Amino acid sequence: MKPIKKAVFPVAGMGTRFLPATKANPKEMLPVVDKPLIQYAAEEAVAAGIDTLIFVTGRNKRSIEDHFDTAYELERELEERNKEKMLRIVREILPPEANCVFIRQSEALGLGHAVLCAKPVVGDEPFAVLLADDLIASTQKPVLSQMVDIYNYQQCSVLGVQEVPMEEVHQYGVVDAAASGERTYEVSGMVEKPAQADAPSNLAVVGRYILTPRLFELLETQERGAGNEIQLTDAIARLLGSQRVLAYNFDGKRFDCGSKLGYLQAQVEFALEHEEVGEEFREYLERLKLSSVENLKFATG
Ligand code: G1P
Repeated sequence: MKPIKKAVFPVAGMGTRFLPATKANPKEMLPVVDKPLIQYAAEEAVAAGIDTLIFVTGRNKRSIEDHFDTAYELERELEERNKEKMLRIVREILPPEANCVFIRQSEALGLGHAVLCAKPVVGDEPFAVLLADDLIASTQKPVLSQMVDIYNYQQCSVLGVQEVPMEEVHQYGVVDAAASGERTYEVSGMVEKPAQADAPSNLAVVGRYILTPRLFELLETQERGAGNEIQLTDAIARLLGSQRVLAYNFDGKRFDCGSKLGYLQAQVEFALEHEEVGEEFREYLERLKLSSVENLKFATG
């Protein structure tokens, strides 16, 4: 099988949970400390050997294109002011050998449909899918690299999963799977957003997929499922009829940056690790006692 060189980033979602912040800006551009979510995902992909990044975009997503494009005026200004560190940060958002492709998903028909929009660029190759609002920190190898290692060895589709509390399974794609290794499971079924009583397990797919191109054929005939959308999960469940699929309980900490609480947790933990502000931020948190802010009312309008 061919190596994984292409990654799809579905970024056409509306981001309603973050309104009004996402009224004019895509949720994928929300920063965690100083980097937008989409950049964390792009860096994770590049670290895993991806050289073609395919963004499936929608309305209001211009800033994602701009973010990965050259910013001539900004660069010239930073150059003139001898701001070398900043210049490097702006220039090195992606390595020069990485290609970005933008495809417009004209109708919001669901995640499965968004992935199908990438078919003309992916072609007949296995590929990765990364959902940028699942931000995953790992102390060892980045998660997608861990999954590429498994793909290279097992030569089949691999889904990134983690155990979630049963009360939360209704928010996820959930796998029916039997352990086959220390962190790997053979998948035998998959359900999108099941009720707790119908969930086959508490192993939830969290925003990282390696998929074979056969999936595109299934997506082309995929009927609408949960939420009346064309679900990626449903097509993967059909893929099981002809191909092996593994679930991989990755080594890493995932932040659900699609929710306010998860996003705030990511801010705090990434800020604590940040080389520039980490130490001071830690001291600040130590000084900060909830009792001292209880009566504080921010005058924000
Ligand atoms: C999507 C997928 C779901 C997956 C989840 C991970 O759902 O449809 O299978 O478990 O991402 O974050 P969404 O969060 O877009 O509703």
